[in-house]
Parts: sequence; C-alpha cells; structure tokens
Amino acid sequence: MKYGYFNDKNREYVITNPRTPWPWINYLGNEDFFSLISNSGGGYSFYKDAKFRRLTRYRYNNVPMDDGGKYFYIKDGETIWSPGWKPCRTELDEYECRHGMNYTVISGEKNGIKTSVLYFVPLNTWAEVQKLTISNNSGEKRKIQLFSFVEWCLWNAAADMENFQRNFSTGEVEIADSVVYHKTEYKERRNHYAFYSVNAPVQGFDTDRESFFGLYNGFDHPQTVFDGKPRNSVAHGWSPIASHYIELELNPGESKDLVFVLGYIENSEEEKWESKGVINKRKAREIIDRFDTSQKVDSALDELRNYWDNLLSIFTVDSGDEKLDRIVNIWNQYQCMITFCFSRSASFFESGIGRGMGFRDSNQDLIGFVHQIPGRARERILDIASTQFQDGGCYHQYQPLTKRGNNDIGGGFNDDPLWLILGTTSYIKETGDFGILDEMVAFDNDMSVARTLFDHLTVSFDHVVNNLGPHGLPLIGRADWNDCLNLNCFSNDPNESFQTTENKSEGSKAESVMIAGLFVAYGRDYADLCRRRGREDEAARALNLVAEMVDTIKKFGWDGEWFIRAYDFFGRKVGSNENEEGKIFIESQGWCTMAGIGSDEGMCKKALDSVKERLDCEQGIVLNNPAFTKYIIEYGEISSYPAGYKENAAVFCHNNPWIMIGETVAGNGDRAWEYYRKICPSYLEEISDLHKTEPYVYGQMIAGKDAFRPGEAKNSWLTGTASWNFYAITQFILGIRPDYDGLIVDPCIPGSWKGFKVVRKFRNAVYNIEVLNPNGKSKGITELVVDGERQSSNVIPVFGDNREHSVKVIL
Ligand code: BGC
Repeated sequence: MKYGYFNDKNREYVITNPRTPWPWINYLGNEDFFSLISNSGGGYSFYKDAKFRRLTRYRYNNVPMDDGGKYFYIKDGETIWSPGWKPCRTELDEYECRHGMNYTVISGEKNGIKTSVLYFVPLNTWAEVQKLTISNNSGEKRKIQLFSFVEWCLWNAAADMENFQRNFSTGEVEIADSVVYHKTEYKERRNHYAFYSVNAPVQGFDTDRESFFGLYNGFDHPQTVFDGKPRNSVAHGWSPIASHYIELELNPGESKDLVFVLGYIENSEEEKWESKGVINKRKAREIIDRFDTSQKVDSALDELRNYWDNLLSIFTVDSGDEKLDRIVNIWNQYQCMITFCFSRSASFFESGIGRGMGFRDSNQDLIGFVHQIPGRARERILDIASTQFQDGGCYHQYQPLTKRGNNDIGGGFNDDPLWLILGTTSYIKETGDFGILDEMVAFDNDMSVARTLFDHLTVSFDHVVNNLGPHGLPLIGRADWNDCLNLNCFSNDPNESFQTTENKSEGSKAESVMIAGLFVAYGRDYADLCRRRGREDEAARALNLVAEMVDTIKKFGWDGEWFIRAYDFFGRKVGSNENEEGKIFIESQGWCTMAGIGSDEGMCKKALDSVKERLDCEQGIVLNNPAFTKYIIEYGEISSYPAGYKENAAVFCHNNPWIMIGETVAGNGDRAWEYYRKICPSYLEEISDLHKTEPYVYGQMIAGKDAFRPGEAKNSWLTGTASWNFYAITQFILGIRPDYDGLIVDPCIPGSWKGFKVVRKFRNAVYNIEVLNPNGKSKGITELVVDGERQSSNVIPVFGDNREHSVKVIL
C-alpha cells in the first residue's frame, strides 16, 4: 500500500494520507539552523547542535506518536482543525504534505477553507520561515480564528528533559509587537535567545503552556482555541511557549498570506541589552524584515531551489528506469547531504542527545557528498582528523558545537582510524586537491602537537600495524564497524552500555578479519598516495605490510567456504562453520571480496556464493546466519537482539553495498543489481505499510528472514547506508569513478541492460557519458571515445576547461 507518490519534476514526495505507518519526515536547513519536520507538522528546531542548542521542545516515545511541533490551529465556527491533520486529528476534506529539497509544504482543507504552510530555512539564515496561505474556497464570507504554536526548549535538550526542579522556575519571555522572544538564562550564562514572529498585527498571544492548553489537555485540545480566546499569558517559569492569535475575514475566493519566522540570535556581551532587563532585539528585527512579505519569502525559496538544482546537477543518470533515476538523481543524494549535516545525531530514531558526529560515520558519509560540496567536505575532514590521538586512535565521536572529541558514547573502536584514509582519498580523487595533505592538523584538538594531515594518515595506518593480535590480524578493540560485536566487554549488568562499559585489553586475543580487509583496501590506497607524494620508501613499507596481511587473512581468516569474522577474547573463531550460531557474517565477506583477497585461489567467488546461499533473502542480505538465539557474553550486544533485528541477522543496509561492490569486482553485474534493488526504498514504495519508513530514503535496517515481521524497516535517514549505496551504484554498478588522474569508466551492470547515460560534472568540466551494451555484457569496456578520440585506457582525462565533453562507451 502506498501513502503518496513521487513527483520527480518537483523533486518532491507527496504524501496524501496523513496516517503514514510512521511519521515521514524531512529536514530543513543545511548549515547552522536546522529543523526536523514530519508530515503532520511534528518536529523541532536547533542551532548547530541538537543536544546543546535545542530551540523547540520535542517528546520522543510519546503517545500518541509524534506529538509536539510547529502547529497551527484553525477555529472555524465550532470546527477546530490543523492543516497537517495532527494534532487536532479532525478529518480533513483534503490533505497533502509535499516534502522537497530542504522544504516542506503541508496543506489541509476543511469546509471550504484551505490552509497551506510552507516551511523552510532560507540559505545563510538562522531562522525557519513559515509562509501560511489561507484561502476561502467557499461561496460565502468567512471569519476564521488562527492560533500558531511552538513550545520552547530550555536549550540543553538533555537537561530540559531531566532537571525539572530547576527548569520549572527559569523560563522567561518578552513580548513586543507581534513577536515572542524566548530568553531563558539569557541574563546569566547565555548570549542567545530565540524568537517567533508574524508579519501582521495580532489580536492576542500566549506564552505560558498551561494557560494555553489547560493543565490536563493534550496538543489536540488547547483550551484557548476551543474557547476562541487567547489568554495573553506571560510565562514566568513553568513551560514557555509562543502562540499568536489572529482573526481573519475572508471574502469568497480570497487568499491571505502570513509569514511566521522562528529565529535564533546571538549577541556579544556588550550588545546584550536594549535597556535594563530588555534584550537587544536589533538582529531579530533584521531577520524579521528580511522575510516580511510573501515576495521576499518566495525569492528566498527560489534561492534554495537554485542551490539544490546546482547540487543535484553534478551527477545525473538516465537509465530508463524511473525508480532508479529518482533515487540516484534526487533522494539518495539528498539523504547523503542530510547525513553530512546531522551525522547520527537527530532523526525520529536518534534523539539528538545521544550521538554527535562519528569519526567513522562522518568519514564514510563523505563518499556520498564530496562531489556536491567539496569545500565543506575538506573542512569536515580537518575537523574529524583533529580529534585523532597521536598514536592514531581516535575519539569515536565529537560534538558539532565544540568540535571536540569525547568518550560519551565509548572509544577504542579499532576500525576508526582507517576510515580517515577513505575520507581523505575520496576528497582528493574528486578535487585533485593534494594540498589538503599539507594542512597542519591538531591531535586531540591540541595545536601544539599538530602534524600534517598526511602524517595523520600515516598514524592511522600504523594504528593497525601496532595493534596486531596473536594471528597477526588486527585487534578489534571495543568493536569494529559492527558496534555490537563487543568481544572484550563481558557485560552482565543490564544497566551498563556495551559501548561504554569496561573494554578488556589485557590478555585479549580478539581480532577482526573485517579490519584486516579494510586495512588491505585502504592500506593500498595509502601506499598509492605515498607514491604520488614521492614517498617511495613509505609506499613500499605499506605495500609489504598489506601483502603480509593478505597472507595472514588467507591463512587464518579463511574458513573453507567463506571468510571468518573474527577471533574472540580467548582466540576462538567467530563466524565459522564450527560455530553453532553466527556461522557466517557479511562484513568480512564484503571487505575481503572488495579487496579481492584470495581471488586467484577462488576464495572471493566462494565467499560471494556463500553469501548468496546463506545470507541473502527476500528483504536483502542479512548480517549473519544463523541468527543468535541466546546471549553469548563474550560476543556482547550482537547476541542481545532478538533474531532478525539490528546487528543480529537483520538486513543491515549499510553493509549490503559492500557485497554489491564485491560482486562488481568479481564481474557479477546481475547479482550486484539484484542486491541493490532489493533494499532500495523507491522499489519498496508499494509495500510501505509493511516497510513503514519513508519510501524516499534508506533506513539503517530492514527486519530479516529470521525476524517476527520480516520487511519492517527502522532508523531511517541517518545511516551510512545512504553514502554506501550511492557509492555502489554510481561508482561500481554504473561505474563512473573519480580517480586522481580522471574519471574511471568501469560499469558492471546486468547483462540485459542496453545501456544508460550519465552527466557528470568533474573538476570544472561536464562529461556527457553514454554507455552502450550491444553485446549483453556485464563488465569490461571495448571502447572509450572522448570527444571523438578513442582512448587507450578506461580513464576519461581531466580537462578542467569549463566545457562539455562527449563520452561514448561500448561494453
Ligand atoms: C553506527 C555505525 C555502526 C553501525 C553498525 C550504526 O548505528 O552509527 O557506526 O557501524 O551502527 O553497528
């Protein structure tokens, strides 16, 4: 069952039924000011950091689901309704939510009154703009009472949910003209406030939640709205809100626009006050003036649209399959940009309090957005690298507001350092900017011990070399990419987190074959980079170590039919046929086949066939098989999940592309494509009622074959799945791959495809690429012709001449 449809021309998903199987959300803002918005107007806003600078309040895990947001209430006689259906849940005559590129339009119609709200964060603006258009589509004159609503958060989202003995006494607001200012804690340790304005006179307002709702009423029943009378309340402590009250008269056929602005302001110490106890509102007024007419709002929206036109023009495919084209050209690239902005911090599955920017996560996300915003990717790489330690290890995460690493969600994940090589080389391959390697970058934010970024890559590489276990495989530390394979934790206290509890290193023999594969792949990239820097000795050293690792994997990492996953604390195999459960895992098959380890000996082929046979199912490739049915203390969190969910045998979508890429390395275009299609959201739209999450973005996991309800997805939006699937489809299946010296063309497609076209902007030139497959091949090009000239390799040269070039490829 579907709940809407794709409108590819407008780059929108249009939801036509408000009762989606889970709130289907969108993100507003792409720099400093951000909002999450659901299809019924739920969600919240923050400045840079969802934990430390939360502007409006949101309650997770609520009943009913998704309560609290940027709401409008309409009182039309005795009928009270909201354009997004929620929170009133009055049946609407018409409902539509259009989620587009960083904007959302929610419209509802009831008894001839149509209300449409456009929500977006204009470029370079610390504010969310809401343009509400109300139209009288009935034949008679109508009087409407309109109430807006937002609820302020007391800035620190965690303290806001916990420290009520203080919070209930601190709330402060100011009201001036049609603007409510939220200034809790401004007089002491904060230099910021928020405001909510409207560009019309108001006939009343409320700023105290209890006065607005009535203490025992829900969001669906604000007493003021039901009474049709604002209380003009001024919050002192308790829970400050902002609500405008506006009376409207509409002639038949008449429409009116109102512009609301929800903004954030910082003032310097000297400029904090207008007069004693009165905040300095100058900057707020400036923002309000910038959007005080519909024309100004419309032109800001046009700028945002142009911004996205540009971002989405860098890679476009024309495959003849609309489901593929829409995901590659629009939604997958959009999702990658969202992961750039939010890492794993704030979604409808991530509370915005738990996790900041991940070291490994952000490096991997980079491969999905570096072509769109190389300048910001560069800055991101330098930010991430400066949270690294001198021995190459790193904080697992940092907070975006402070850019300092912290151990709040644990540390000691031994895969972390290697991802910096992926992030950096991807950036240089896209841009040709080798200069980034010479940037001086702090260790643990301490500039006095700064070294070049290149040196950071060296210590990343060496962190593995210096932490090998008894078989010569990399020690796993707390965990590798699979956060839940905690081989050194031995936790039996349900109140401790697997990620932060003790991580025994003394006596541990726990090694990871996945990190070994990763080391081979990115060790080679590191060596390549060394050579390009004229560091032949270092390149040779690296290649020797990589070759040793390849041998070690073949010797100790091979189980006969597939690669084993790890060795546990005691040195026993994990992911081997010898095990009762968890005989085979996806990660080591992915990394070892991507790196082509043992391909001459037939290992890659066998490993990929084993994946097909044991891990593949209708929903995708599950993480492990058989699923764990009991808790194994020496394996940790992975065995705590019920079978088929999360890291215990769900289709964990992040790692499926590793197998897709492994299949393309082996030349199996049909299989790579089959795996791609299975988990791609645009192909799952028809089963939205089962799949549950948005059909326009990937989720982190889909319940696997062992689950109670296979096919149900969770954790949509903020997942490495976005970048890896984009990487797999564009660089390995369609096979257009940026490299240091040009664009490699190396498609690996189903034999039945006749071809496809790609437009790729790359280093200041536009390449119009046409791939033809007259002989029904999957891989291997027969001919590459650039601007009429046959090339001797499969690399399109760098032109950098701001011109268009025609590229013809015959498989
Ligand atoms: C984390 C990743 C991790 C993955 C697998 C995700 O939630 O963000 O860092 O690799 O889970 O455990």
